Amino acid sequence: MMNDNPLDSATERDLARRHLLPHFTKGKAWDHDNLGVIERGEGCYVYDTEGEEYLDGLAGLFCTNMGHGRQDFAAAAAKQMEQLGFYPTWGWANPPAAEAATMIAERAPGDLSEVFFVSSGSEAVESVLKFARSYHVARGDTDRYKVISREWSYHGTTLGGLAVTGVPKFRNPFLPMLWDGVRHVRNTYGDTAEELASAAAIEEMILAEGPETVAAVICEPVQNGRGGLVPPEGYWPELRRICDKYGVLLVADEVICAFGRFGHWFASERFGVVPDMISFAKGVTSAYQPLGGMIVRKPLVETVWESEMAAYMHGSTFGGHPVATAVAVANMRAMADEKIMDHVLSHEAGFRARMDSLLEKHNCVKEVRGLGYFYAIELMTDRVGGRELSDTQRAALQGGVLAEYVRDARILVRPDDRGATMLTVSPPLIADGDVLDDLTSRIDQVLTRTSEFLAVNP
Ligand SMILES: Cc1ncc(COP(=O)(O)O)c(C=O)c1O
Repeated sequence: MMNDNPLDSATERDLARRHLLPHFTKGKAWDHDNLGVIERGEGCYVYDTEGEEYLDGLAGLFCTNMGHGRQDFAAAAAKQMEQLGFYPTWGWANPPAAEAATMIAERAPGDLSEVFFVSSGSEAVESVLKFARSYHVARGDTDRYKVISREWSYHGTTLGGLAVTGVPKFRNPFLPMLWDGVRHVRNTYGDTAEELASAAAIEEMILAEGPETVAAVICEPVQNGRGGLVPPEGYWPELRRICDKYGVLLVADEVICAFGRFGHWFASERFGVVPDMISFAKGVTSAYQPLGGMIVRKPLVETVWESEMAAYMHGSTFGGHPVATAVAVANMRAMADEKIMDHVLSHEAGFRARMDSLLEKHNCVKEVRGLGYFYAIELMTDRVGGRELSDTQRAALQGGVLAEYVRDARILVRPDDRGATMLTVSPPLIADGDVLDDLTSRIDQVLTRTSEFLAVNP
């Protein structure tokens, strides 16, 4: 029954449990007495309705890059709403969309200059997949529809993005609904610059499928699934060489990696490559508004526009939304004015040293992988003795024990089970030495309890 003032009769927590469906959350975990309700944020910290403070060690979900509580972003959104709350980018432009596109193009590597806006990372991935197909069709290369992706990669939840995603538990329930053109090959885990076997795997797959059927290769510059997979030196230039050789488009899915996570506007720059397309989202607005997009090399767009299709047959109502793009402009200005790239690069070594100190201290840490402001801490039972987690330990840690320790330490980092048992760490980029110390000490508490748990629960 409708209640005009629902907060009179129930707390936000009860209302959420009753009516709000969570994303990627087990029903039992949601329907729990200690379901948290975050209501406020400031800098690198957020606060729940009971006044508890948490260190946001994940930047929301790898996205509140400039931190919480920015009044200038709020002002930019309000000003734009007063001026023009909405008008579509179908046949018309609007000033903030044009300005945001220009700022992104100026910061993108090489000749990536054409920016297409959507509202999320998944939609950004849909856009690159459909653009790759459009480009090949425009050239009369109509057999090219397959896409090569990597095991344990994450490219979103919409059916195209999910098809290229390589995380079995996300894909399996939907397999009959996924398109048959995706091939997953090994990722860079365990590969070396000398071997580059993970790049060779892509070339082998292109040859096995027939290059004339392959439209694109899509990879994250640093892969999140399987935990902070930084590619070996030379991997991306080798992908560029392979894709050029076979007429395949190279896509960098930078939904997490762009806008400073590795101290550059785009991670492709750091890895020495100009891809044909980049998908982005999250950090473009520091998540103050939902915005995603793709950047494409101009000759590719011209090929589509000059073909019989004459247009890229794809779009959405909210693509290029003036309020979202006005916030993107404010965010990119703040990133430049506050020299956030220099900040990340100057703190990178200290961040790494702090993560390495956790490895040295805790025998339950198998490996720390990552770069910039992005790390995965992989767990095992006994590093010195070479013992991996038992099935029961893994199930318990992934089934709620780690989540409880993380919550108790009042830190938001992600207990991750994609290919290993891990903690993913990715704080706002504004985190300074004090915040990084706080982050390290809270993770230290989590790892101490994890070690104690493993000692008594074989
Ligand atoms: C690399 C990558 N691509 C796509 C997505 C999907 O983005 P969204 O959740 O905004 O749809 C994500 C989300 O984390 C991602 O990390």
